[in-house]
Amino acid sequence: MKKIVKIFDTTLRDGEQSPGCSMNRKEKVQLAYQIEKLGVDVIEAGFAASSVEDFNSIREVAKIAKNMTVASLARCNKNDIDRAYEALKDAKYKRLHIFIATSDIHMEYKLEMTREDVKNSVRKHVTYAKEKFSDIEFSCEDATRTDVDFMIEVIQIAVDCGATTINIPDTVGYIMPDEYSDIIKKVRENVVGIENVDISVHCHNDLGLAVANSLAAIKAGATQVECTINGIGERAGNTAMEEVVMALKTRGDFFNIDTNINTKEIMKSSEMLSSIIGVKISPTKPIVGKNVFSHEAGIHQHGVFKNKETYEIMDPSMIGYKANSFVLGKHSGKHALKQKLEELGFIVNDIEMNDIFEKFKEVSDVKKEIYDDDLIAIMSANNKLV
Ligand code: KIV
Ligand code: ZN
Repeated sequence: MKKIVKIFDTTLRDGEQSPGCSMNRKEKVQLAYQIEKLGVDVIEAGFAASSVEDFNSIREVAKIAKNMTVASLARCNKNDIDRAYEALKDAKYKRLHIFIATSDIHMEYKLEMTREDVKNSVRKHVTYAKEKFSDIEFSCEDATRTDVDFMIEVIQIAVDCGATTINIPDTVGYIMPDEYSDIIKKVRENVVGIENVDISVHCHNDLGLAVANSLAAIKAGATQVECTINGIGERAGNTAMEEVVMALKTRGDFFNIDTNINTKEIMKSSEMLSSIIGVKISPTKPIVGKNVFSHEAGIHQHGVFKNKETYEIMDPSMIGYKANSFVLGKHSGKHALKQKLEELGFIVNDIEMNDIFEKFKEVSDVKKEIYDDDLIAIMSANNKLV
């Protein structure tokens, strides 16, 4: 039996934090429906204390989530914990994600706190949070530039005070895969009670190593991986969910670890996010780029024609990739349009459908064939996202 690593999706929090990727409440809810279909274990819906809009978005996501746990980020202070608690009150499964920086550079210049101050704050605030939440994730921000012995002391306090997941983020995308797996092993060997909590990893992609580092950490025993759709996030982004999931799936022989992700929803999720934030996916982006399953060179085409596995390591249907076999045109009716929109993940009521059908007719009068991209453009232009 393969072990399962939990997927913690932070597209709506860390992903949304990056320039050009912001989403309004309606858009976040639309995406949350799709993220639930993907089968993630945890969705980080936002940072409740950061703004009223973020607070309200978390509330809405909390209301619609059925099986996934909904998390809110919070700093180590009572107000942040209280705001997160309020925002998550309607969630069936809720998690507080509380963090504080532990590297010397962050403690000195950002927090202006000593090591003792940080330890006291973790003790005080995880204890306070435990009165409200049973599921608490604690993160040492900038963990990979933190003195590892000090980090172990901090983690021990968090575990003793009731944290149920410990996250070890590579906040600035600095670590190398072997170093990261050494840190994970050291935490596993030195924190008393660590076997009863999840060890989570959260990587940024500044050196292009976020996926490699996440995989190394999973191999070293991490039980949760934090990621975003299409790898969006601060600066060079976060670990791309689809890449880590498909690496585990495709190289099951190497990892013997899987996820709960329904991989057939990957393509749809990637396209939906791209259309919502208006950021196009690079054609060479692993897993979801347009070129990933196309073969230009004659010698490759010849090989693929005889046996796809000559140049393809994944079956495109596994990620829900479909060649456009079913194209709409000006003779298509409302029913066909509705069916296609549902396939693309858009939930449209009958009244909205009338407007969208009008727009569809206008476009199809000009264009002979209407492809998925055209429909996505119609939907975003009309802001009919839910
Ligand atoms: O990158 C980071 O350290 C974070 C934490 C808040 C987990 O996003
Ligand atoms: Zn981050």
